[in-house]
Amino acid sequence: MPSQTSLDAALDSVLDPVFEKPMRAIGSLLESHLDGTKASLRIKLPSPSPTIEAKARRRLEEACRSAGVTEIAIAIDVEVPTREVMGDDPIPGVRNVILVMSGKGGVGKSTTAVNLTLALAKLGHRVGLLDADIYGPSIPTMMGVSGQPISKDGKMISPLERFGVKMMSIGFLLEDDKQAIVWRGPMLHGALQQFLKDVDWGPLDFLVLDLPPGTGDVALTMAQKLKVTGVVMVTTPQEVALQDVYKSVSMCHKLALPILGVVENMSFFVDPAGNRHELFGKGGGDKVAAFAQAPLLGQIPIVQAVREQGDKGLPIVQADPTSEASEVFLSVAEALVEKVLKDHFERTGGTMVPAGKGPTRLKIMR
Ligand SMILES: Nc1ncnc2c1ncn2[C@@H]1O[C@H](COP(=O)(O)OP(=O)(O)OP(=O)(O)O)[C@@H](O)[C@H]1O
Ligand SMILES: [Mg+2]
Repeated sequence: MPSQTSLDAALDSVLDPVFEKPMRAIGSLLESHLDGTKASLRIKLPSPSPTIEAKARRRLEEACRSAGVTEIAIAIDVEVPTREVMGDDPIPGVRNVILVMSGKGGVGKSTTAVNLTLALAKLGHRVGLLDADIYGPSIPTMMGVSGQPISKDGKMISPLERFGVKMMSIGFLLEDDKQAIVWRGPMLHGALQQFLKDVDWGPLDFLVLDLPPGTGDVALTMAQKLKVTGVVMVTTPQEVALQDVYKSVSMCHKLALPILGVVENMSFFVDPAGNRHELFGKGGGDKVAAFAQAPLLGQIPIVQAVREQGDKGLPIVQADPTSEASEVFLSVAEALVEKVLKDHFERTGGTMVPAGKGPTRLKIMR
């Protein structure tokens, strides 16, 4: 017959699935009660990711069984850690802001931003996508969304929504999608600020920004306005792309924008016979990652369907979630989440966000 003491002793050594420290000590094992041979646990996880949940369950169940428990119920609170929010932050309910950028044009920033956002949503996060490319918005086409956002109260604009993603783009505000935008720097700055403070993003775990090419104004504006969680740097493998990407890495370092990781897009092509071709050479992603001192989050293959689905407004992660490219995007999202969580944990000295601070969700047991 198990005892509360033997159960607690077994649980004390269970390691957190993300931080690999004892769950009880870092505050992620909240409660453990024994009723006969049934244990009821309450834990706190920093992400709704099913992989993280499964790992936690496996470890806890093993510990409970070793203490003689036969029936185990685990209630899970999910609270995604938040970036630092200052008093004048325009989006205090947004826990993490991710900038998808590259010094180089056409490397797949928008494709990555869209599919990464959808992958984060598939893991269970509350997500938004902000098209910060004011002169060349791609999000309306890639996400298959048109129409004008409305304002319910005449003050805040409601973002458009598709596939569970809240979205805002200058493209939604143009009467004709072929219309040129003839704004200069200060107006761009103004539009972006409006997209932050006048859009009702609500509580979000991640807001992903699709940046225009270049080292540019947008990253600077963002760094001035709020605490950005970090940057996902996109590159392609070939030398000629790298010089421009290095410049944007340097700019991030100057602005103290953390680089969370690098995505190498168009890494390889697999022909119908199954042979792999590195059309643009190889090693670019590793070189950028080394220069940025950040992990290489993934290598996305060149797949015709990625382009086709992007043009159709049905991104590959949504259209065909089990395809090879989608699986890479999903693993990029998991690696990104892990990096964000671990960085936060290190920065805050291992303390979790105090309960009751900011929007919390109680997750229904699976
Ligand atoms: N892995 C891929 N396989 C096939 N096509 C791709 C892939 N990644 C991107 N593309 C296609 O390449 C083109 C450029 O991609 P995308 O618009 O995402 O790049 P970008 O870096 O955002 O460009 P810009 O600098 O103009 O904003 C698009 O037509 C897109 O569908
Ligand atoms: Mg783009």
